[in-house]
Order: sequence, then C-alpha cells, then structure tokens
Amino acid sequence: MIDILDQQIKKGAEIIKNGGIVAFPTETVYGLGANAFDEQAIRKIFEIKGRPQDNPLIVHISRKDDIYIVATNIPQKAFELIENFWPGPLTLVMKKNPVVPDVVSAGLDTVAVRMPAHPVALKLIDYVGFPIAAPSANPSGKPSPTKPEHIKMYFGDKVFVIEGQCQLGIESTVIDITSDPPVVLRPGGLELEKIKDVLGNIIEFSSEKLSEKPKSPGVKYTHYKPDLFLILLRKRDDIEKISSFIKDHTRMIFVMTYDFDVSFQNQFRQKFYSLQVDFIFAGSDEREIAKNLFDILITKTTGYDLMIFEGVNEQGIGKGIMNRLKKAADVIV
Ligand code: TXA
Ligand code: MG
Repeated sequence: MIDILDQQIKKGAEIIKNGGIVAFPTETVYGLGANAFDEQAIRKIFEIKGRPQDNPLIVHISRKDDIYIVATNIPQKAFELIENFWPGPLTLVMKKNPVVPDVVSAGLDTVAVRMPAHPVALKLIDYVGFPIAAPSANPSGKPSPTKPEHIKMYFGDKVFVIEGQCQLGIESTVIDITSDPPVVLRPGGLELEKIKDVLGNIIEFSSEKLSEKPKSPGVKYTHYKPDLFLILLRKRDDIEKISSFIKDHTRMIFVMTYDFDVSFQNQFRQKFYSLQVDFIFAGSDEREIAKNLFDILITKTTGYDLMIFEGVNEQGIGKGIMNRLKKAADVIV
C-alpha cells in the first residue's frame, strides 16, 4: 500500500482512538466510523448524520474471530455464511454481546456485524484495535457516498476522509440470522441467490409492505432522496405513463440502463420537444450500474428538476439496485 495512503489510514486511526469520527472506503459504500466501544463517539455519528436514535449501526471487524467480541449465541448458519462470504458485502444480525454499548444497536438485543473486503477498511480497524461502528457516510435520507468528493459535498471539512474507491457501489446485504429460516432485511451487494445456495431457505422481507414494527429499523425511514423529482421507469416502452409528470418540469435528465440507444433518445426528444432533456448512461450490466448508481443520484442532478431513471432486472445485485431506486423515487411506473 502506498505511503501517503498509509499515513491517511494512520491519521484516521488516531482520530478514532481519540474519540472522533472518520469517513473511510469499504467495497460497498463509504462508512462514517467510530470506535464501537466509545459511546460518546457513536453519539457524534448520530448527530452529524441527523440519524434517528432508533436506527442501529453496523459493527465492522477485520478478522472473522472478532465476532466473539461483539456477538453471542452465534448459530451454525452464521459460520457457514462467514466461511463463504467474509470478507465481503454481507452483514449478519446476531445476538449482541452485552459489552457492546446500547447506542450502537439502538437498544436492540441484536447487533449487525460485517467484515468488509477493502484493504483500507481492514487496515483502519487493525490500527484502531477495536471494531468500528459505521453507517453509510451520508446525511440521513440522502444517497450513500461512494467517492471522497461526495463526503466533501455532504459534510465539507467537518469529517476527515480517507481516500479510496468503493468497487461495488451499493451497501451490503443484511441478513437476520437469529431467525430460522434467516430473514433478508436488506438486499444488497451480495446476491441472495448465492446465500440461498449455502443456506437453502431464506425469507425475503418486503420493504414495500411496512409493518407497524419493522424488523430492521432502517427500512421505515425515507432514504436515498436526490435533490430533484425522481421517476423510476421500469420499462423504456412505458414513457406514455410518465407524460403527466413530465409536463410540470422543464429540465430533465434521463438515465438509461443496459443500452444507450440513440434512436430512442431522438424519439423521446421529439415527443417532449419543448423541454430540455439530456441523456446519460448508467452502465451496460448490473455491476456497472450499481457502481454508478449513487454517484448519479448525488452529482448528476445539478441543473435539472426531473430525473428519469430506467429500472433494471430484479435478480442478482439488480435486486439491491431496484430496492434503492424504489426508495429514492417520487413516482414508480
Ligand atoms: O455496506 C454497508 O452495509 C455500509 C458500509 C459502510 O458497511 N453500511 C451501511 O450502514 O449501509 P447503514 O447504517 O447505512 O445501514 C445499516 C442497516 C440499516 O438499515 C439498519 O437499520 C440495519 O442495517 N441494522 C443495523 N443493526 C441492526 C440490527 N441490530 N437489527 C436489524 N437491523 C439492523
Ligand atoms: Mg445508510
């Protein structure tokens, strides 16, 4: 690892050891981390994010065996998942070891744990010498950051940022392993198909049917909202259905997925000839689209009052992408 980066990681570790918070890259998205055992530091995370007090944080560890520091009563199925997918974009909700402060778990008797697959994150945790509790590094309700410049846009110089790249671009898959069969609390960077191959049966929790008391507090809040009106267009052929929403807006950006078909663009321009419309390409497959998703929602909104984002197939990480887009959208057609 290059020296400058190592210096940054060391500086970040010092800040965390002194009770501060640091933005650091993981393979999914940027995290905003503090020492998981430092209650005061954890409170700073909630404060700077404007995060509701009842929404718990994920605890990040750098070695598999460190789960014993934060969790107890770990079921066999957890070990099977860990063996197959850690380090990686999989978060496991397990019984909390009572030594983990209640602020981290927002008072729940469970704790969410993950070992990230990013050398910078792993090194930071090692230098700190404690597990790091970290939510995504965005103000509550905003899209998750995947680049250092997103954090600067959100927080200015208020948090120290360690440089890095987030390869995947969407957050980890969260599984509640205290239930049998285990329950998917959030689809994400690890494909559910792969988890099913290991565990057999899992229950998919539908975030669209919100119950009075959701199993994962995070699912009940507004999320990922960009700074303009967002339409999620499941199928390109359905543009008739969005005409009524489009006419209230004048400056549009159309985010295309899978192919950047110019004849479609011309047709669309002709149909809405009185309006300004620009087209951008999110990517030709789900991996590329996931990587670009939050950057588009954060940085490609400037100068527009409407974004139309084309949907993707709801399989593999496409499921995670659509979960984020459905939450971000004002209208889904
Ligand atoms: O990829 C990721 O998971 C990123 C990186 C930084 O690791 N982190 C992340 O954290 O996305 P956050 O806080 O934005 O999302 C964590 C989700 C929330 O929906 C939260 O409600 C849920 O995990 N969660 C955390 N602890 C939980 C628990 N004990 N029981 C149920 N859900 C929990
Ligand atoms: Mg988040």
